[in-house]
Amino acid sequence: MTHPPFVDYQAVLDQIHAEVQPLLGRGRVADYIPELAKVRGDQFGMAVVTLDGTVYSCGDARTPFSIQSVSKLFALTLAFQCVGDALWERVGREPSGSAFNSLVQLETEQGKPRNPFINAGALIITDVLCTRFVNPETALVEFVRRLSGNATLQYDDRVAKSELATGFRNRAMANFMRSFGNLVNPVDDVIDAYCRHCAIRMDSVDLARAVAFLANGGVNPWTGETIVDASSAKRLSALMLTCGTYDAAGDFAYRVGIPCKSGVGGGIVGHIPDVLGVCVWSPELEPSGNSMAGSHALERFTTLTGQSLF
Ligand code: DON
Repeated sequence: MTHPPFVDYQAVLDQIHAEVQPLLGRGRVADYIPELAKVRGDQFGMAVVTLDGTVYSCGDARTPFSIQSVSKLFALTLAFQCVGDALWERVGREPSGSAFNSLVQLETEQGKPRNPFINAGALIITDVLCTRFVNPETALVEFVRRLSGNATLQYDDRVAKSELATGFRNRAMANFMRSFGNLVNPVDDVIDAYCRHCAIRMDSVDLARAVAFLANGGVNPWTGETIVDASSAKRLSALMLTCGTYDAAGDFAYRVGIPCKSGVGGGIVGHIPDVLGVCVWSPELEPSGNSMAGSHALERFTTLTGQSLF
């Protein structure tokens, strides 16, 4: 690898922090999970962790938030560790071009979701974890603790219960996939684990650290533990690029140019191979379900640093 040119990441983050201020207040906080609607919308934080462990941050980077669909990246990694390529018999690897919570493709595609990052796909991934672990929610929290190096991470019980009480669409999807035989555990068990995974609370610094193994060829830079082999890290990253931001993934690749995974809590993680992990958080969303200020901040980050995949 050639050594990346010197970049003053702190100056870049400070500039982005100033630039996004006019965007705050323009998007909408997710409210279909009632607990998420209580989060103040005009917050913004961003963190970068280079592979030598140096942390750069700005704004609300140490404010914990609900990681929601960002958890799908960690759940997929853990499931891939467990069953490898057998996963692809039950979930595809193509962008869906539909909303993250859409059901439409499932009927014509025999209950096999397009990819592991839309809700239907993540439910299949959770089903794999339910088969593999006696306590799948604890297994994922412990995995993310190891990736981030923060042993105190937890899921937020109130957020999990709030989604459990209102997640009718995910339940419908899970039942539908069970009718095709693609989901095998009891629907209530899968939904329970899924909602707890989504309800994990983390801040931007911990998330930037947790994604860094993908920038480091599958090896946790903080512990030296091999999480996945280099080829699998490449594959997981390719899925982030093509499917990690749902029906906005093409636009994201065009504007930002790095593998990213978003969540409706307003977090987006990404990485630049061999260089760094990054996380941005701002709770107000675009209609696609991706953070509005967060998307803009990542576009500015790759533009100002001159670093991206391309
Ligand atoms: O299942 C849901 O709808 C949420 N728990 C997660 C969705 C989500 O984060 C989509 N991301 N942008």
